[in-house]
Amino acid sequence: MKKVRIGVIGVGGMGGGHCNRAKTFQNENKQVELACVCDIDEKVARERSEKFGVKYFLDYKKLIDSGMCDAVVVATPHWFHPEISIYAFKKGLHVLCEKPIAVTGSGAQKIIAAAKKSGKVFGVNFQRRLEGVTMKAKEIIDSGEIGEITRTLCIDPWYRTQSYYDSGTWRATWAGEGGGVLCNQAPHTIDMFVYLGGMPVKIEARTRAKIHKIEVEDEVQASLEYANGAWGCYYTSTCEPFGPLHFEFAGEKGKLVIREKEMTLYRYSHPVNEHVKKYNKMFASMEVKKEIVEPGPGISKSIMENFRDAIMKGEKLYAPGVEGINAVEFFNACILSSHTNKPVKIPVPRKTYDQLMEKLKKTSKKKEAVKVQRVTDPKAML
Ligand SMILES: NC(=O)c1ccc[n+]([C@@H]2O[C@H](COP(=O)([O-])OP(=O)(O)OC[C@H]3O[C@@H](n4cnc5c(N)ncnc54)[C@H](O)[C@@H]3O)[C@@H](O)[C@H]2O)c1
Repeated sequence: MKKVRIGVIGVGGMGGGHCNRAKTFQNENKQVELACVCDIDEKVARERSEKFGVKYFLDYKKLIDSGMCDAVVVATPHWFHPEISIYAFKKGLHVLCEKPIAVTGSGAQKIIAAAKKSGKVFGVNFQRRLEGVTMKAKEIIDSGEIGEITRTLCIDPWYRTQSYYDSGTWRATWAGEGGGVLCNQAPHTIDMFVYLGGMPVKIEARTRAKIHKIEVEDEVQASLEYANGAWGCYYTSTCEPFGPLHFEFAGEKGKLVIREKEMTLYRYSHPVNEHVKKYNKMFASMEVKKEIVEPGPGISKSIMENFRDAIMKGEKLYAPGVEGINAVEFFNACILSSHTNKPVKIPVPRKTYDQLMEKLKKTSKKKEAVKVQRVTDPKAML
């Protein structure tokens, strides 16, 4: 194979960005070609087709069956991600899927099964995994420097105006999106949080629509419990101006604190469990060394280049699609817990969650005052 021919399905805000990127690589002879695009909105499909000089389709099946591509990028609203990706795998194409890979754990499982059966490359667009801060934190935690994790914290503020929510009929509805901040903005951070701190086994959450006129949640807080008994706290919303994204991973031997790109490592002179028992003075404390850690530049390669090299050279994916289920599992647990007022064990019971979604979808109302805009967050990196 001399190059990877890519078809982009769903060419709104983010899909338009993927087209730009693929076309740029094509112009730079980087073994990628933007072969064709697809959108159910003919105006959008035609505009992208004219802009990039490629054929357009209105039906994803026709694009996939056309023989024009080796791989597809799926950038439609989330509910369609499993259906389209599964069809592509069945037809022998590689898939780079936007986040979240699915709205429900059952949908995520189905894509993963189809990907495995096909043997094709399955990537998810979790581009934050390539950032210096994520890579350095992963290296520190995996090296055992802070020891076994005993507490976590994630505070992830986002900001969206009402006009953002009014920019598309699908946005912030149960039928069109299947959730709010949790399944749109937060998956990036949830992925990082779980990638670094592990997956909780139980989540108790409250979700609400605090300041936006939407069906789904714009604010979430959750208590987490891990297999080793550790606890964690999680917060996200689209009600707070940006920054700082804050993580804490407290361990037996130290603590890693991340505020955006600033990383501080606290090293304890003794493991907590040992010190707590050994020192019998009433207010004995231990020495804690504070070190500012330079995150480093991260990986300059993009997710699309990594996807290309996974197809052409078998390179390892930085964000494998199969790991996309973690964020889905996490936000399903938050939504189910809030709607049942009970803690939810992970893996989330698939049938119960699917039934909840079906019930909520029926409550979805046609959106008024929609001013369609297909522009992606300028901060979304490709
Ligand atoms: N990785 C990131 O940083 C990032 C950033 C923004 C959006 N996204 C993801 O990208 C996806 C799209 O979001 P967006 O903001 O670009 O939305 P958007 O509304 O701007 O674009 C979605 C496009 O998909 C089209 N579409 C809908 N159903 C389709 C179907 N069945 N077949 C083909 N086309 C279809 C719509 O007509 C629209 O043009 C979402 O899943 C979102 O979570 C990811």
